[in-house]
Amino acid sequence: MTASLDQLRRCHFAVDLGAARTRVYVKGTGLVVDQPSVAAVNTRTGALIAVGEFAERMTGRTPHYIRVVRPVSGGSVVDIEMAQRMLRQLLGDKTRRTLRRKPFLRAAACTPHDADPLGRRAAIETLVGLGARRVELVDTLLAAGVGCGLPVERPEATMIMVCGAAATQLAVLSLGAIVTAERIPVGGEAVDRAIVQHLRHKHELMLPSQSVRPLQIALSGNGLTAHGPTSTVITGLDVATGLARSVKVDTAAVRHAIQTPLTAVLDGIGKVLRDCPPDLVADLADRGIMMVGGSALLPGLDQMLRASTGMPVHIAERPELCAIQGLGAMLEGRVEPLELHLPADD
Ligand SMILES: Nc1ncnc2c1ncn2[C@@H]1O[C@H](COP(=O)(O)OP(=O)(O)OP(=O)(O)O)[C@@H](O)[C@H]1O
Ligand SMILES: [Mg+2]
Repeated sequence: MTASLDQLRRCHFAVDLGAARTRVYVKGTGLVVDQPSVAAVNTRTGALIAVGEFAERMTGRTPHYIRVVRPVSGGSVVDIEMAQRMLRQLLGDKTRRTLRRKPFLRAAACTPHDADPLGRRAAIETLVGLGARRVELVDTLLAAGVGCGLPVERPEATMIMVCGAAATQLAVLSLGAIVTAERIPVGGEAVDRAIVQHLRHKHELMLPSQSVRPLQIALSGNGLTAHGPTSTVITGLDVATGLARSVKVDTAAVRHAIQTPLTAVLDGIGKVLRDCPPDLVADLADRGIMMVGGSALLPGLDQMLRASTGMPVHIAERPELCAIQGLGAMLEGRVEPLELHLPADD
């Protein structure tokens, strides 16, 4: 599925359409868009009211005729037309004019490791609607591996874990290709949901979606580990009365609630290691796991993985940007060797 480096070098722009955020890299310019994958639409007229940060801030605060939609869900584009409209707005007139001037516009996009033909088709269609005459698809795991500077092309194993919003993808990379990989449909969104559910059941408190992040921030410093404050005060709405109420939340209980989705991730690591050839497992024990993706910043997640796998765990610099920066490096021709995807040896 992964395009060759030669083809990628000829692309003019690259897009990472994520469940949480959309990022666009323009060759020669760099990262031009890093905004939430959200659009607000007037359902009476069909007009687009806002996209990105503005639209996200409207979530839960709109009159009935304005709908806030997310055209990307579970790792793939679910509303192609809306994704195109959102991307057009996010790119802005200036960038669109620059891209329109190319006689044969080529685009690159990263897609989840196990994207089905429909999901791949949706990514291609979205970019074709933006004027691309040819679209190259790259596996997110390879793009992120390149983006965080892993020596993916060497004959040594490296393990990468892309912690996204909708899913966590894991792979062992060697010689520029994926040796074994796993996609676990549990990501930052599942962790947020677990926190919301916990507060609902335990404290009868409804938490507006945007305040989950402040809760995680309140837990930071101790996060998923047992150090730091034992309680934190959270304001939400009472489930029964609908009135605002503040409760003192036990951080240990929140940690416990988050454990359930994270267990699935641990199972995934075990499976990838079991499927990996023994020689490569030895490399992995030294090199450990490289975490990328926005949810890698979940406080304490790295310590938890270190404790449960016994392997060194590193968080990439700016983990949320690794996939798009990797695509960018491929577009700019900064990646060697020429073949990313080696032909099967038989
Ligand atoms: N500082 C942080 N602490 C905890 N979680 C964070 C932090 N920053 C971002 N996140 C989480 O990271 C996720 C977004 O990560 P990212 O931008 O990699 O997702 P995405 O690429 O849009 O998703 P996907 O790749 O699954 O489609 C969100 O779920 C968000 O809650
Ligand atoms: Mg992503």
